[in-house]
Amino acid sequence: MSSTDVSHIAADAAAHAQDAVASGRLNEAIEALAAFGGRSDGGVSRETLTPLDLQARRHLIERARALGCEVRVDACGNLFFRRAGQQADLPPVLTGSHIDTQPVGGKLDGAYGVIAGLEVIQALNDASVATRRPVEVVVWTNEEGARFGPGAMGSSAFAKPERLTGYRTSRDAAGVTFGAALDAALAQVGDVNSCPLGHPVHACVELHIEQGPVLEAANVPLGVVTGIQGVRWFSVKILGAAAHAGTTPMEVRRDAMRAAMALANRLYACADAARAQGLRMTLGRWRVDPNSINTIAGDVEFTVDARCVDEAVLAGFEASLRDAVTNLDASDGYAAQVQSLFARGMTRFPPEMAALIERGCARAAANAGEQAPIRLTSGAFHDAMYVADVCPTAMIFVPSRAGISHNAAEYTEPRQLYLGAKALAYAVTELACR
Ligand code: GLV
Ligand code: MN
Ligand code: MN
Repeated sequence: MSSTDVSHIAADAAAHAQDAVASGRLNEAIEALAAFGGRSDGGVSRETLTPLDLQARRHLIERARALGCEVRVDACGNLFFRRAGQQADLPPVLTGSHIDTQPVGGKLDGAYGVIAGLEVIQALNDASVATRRPVEVVVWTNEEGARFGPGAMGSSAFAKPERLTGYRTSRDAAGVTFGAALDAALAQVGDVNSCPLGHPVHACVELHIEQGPVLEAANVPLGVVTGIQGVRWFSVKILGAAAHAGTTPMEVRRDAMRAAMALANRLYACADAARAQGLRMTLGRWRVDPNSINTIAGDVEFTVDARCVDEAVLAGFEASLRDAVTNLDASDGYAAQVQSLFARGMTRFPPEMAALIERGCARAAANAGEQAPIRLTSGAFHDAMYVADVCPTAMIFVPSRAGISHNAAEYTEPRQLYLGAKALAYAVTELACR
């Protein structure tokens, strides 16, 4: 068969799969998954490897089996749901995302990509499309990084299995190690075959909500993601001396909170100075010890999340952070230290993958009478950034209302979710038929 014939067959199958995606079914499946950790305000609290996360994983395993998929799990707890291809030995086309949430998240961050992946398998079944390669839907472990740092652990360990040993020692706020939580999770899927960490993959497409304001502002339902901005995470610790709030004169205090606030203000000033170059900085998690109303803080720790598309700007910010901490260290009575927790440079997806995504998005949008897709970079990180290290990878975005995410108010219109799943079906099927 000539390559033109193969392209025509792939495009035809992709169109069939796209047309078989069902909106009602997609939304019902999103709601069913959101029930695990669902909150009365519409949000979801389902941090990684908690009992709720394990129940949600079991729910998905049963769904995947009902669709005829073979289910496998690797040493980092990543779950793979495989729809067989005509050539079983060919590396699969991968899609999916994560189902862990922030302490309080929405129903869609991650979950949408996994559910849409299963909807693609259902659509392929309904349209009786036989793909040349297997199609695999993945549920990555611990994308959020909120309970155990760093984020995107599952996909990172998939891309480089030797990273898992270090990740296993990461601890949550209660002192539980990631390794212990992971072993407990693996023990609960004894009926699932295991697969090696980092099995070969042909290509990967991740569908996700944008979590930012760009698509909504452009009034466009689908975005072709060309890359993901770089990210660096740090922990800053300041040691002063706890003492009585009422009896200790101001001039002799070694108040770790005062020092931390001075440092925080310096960091905000650095971030403001680099705003025009696109730097975003967050001091998101604070630990104050002893955290008592009438004791001077003896020990304060806070996290720094810095992101930018420009690596030089991130490097400049890190230099300023280290400089500020060193200067504080030198001042009277405080010990301060900064530790790097996570660093990932800008990810750029291959142009040919973006072109494929664009075809799938354009067809879905045109058939729905919607505006053509636009290209954008991702402000959030995603598992796709690590998968991009091992195979051609791309992402599709749908809009987020008011750009809100990592919040119970996260929302995307069902019609947009439907178009995203259609675009995904097209891209995955075309790749799997080549
Ligand atoms: C992922 O949740 C991120 O923080 O970008
Ligand atoms: Mn996500
Ligand atoms: Mn997230």
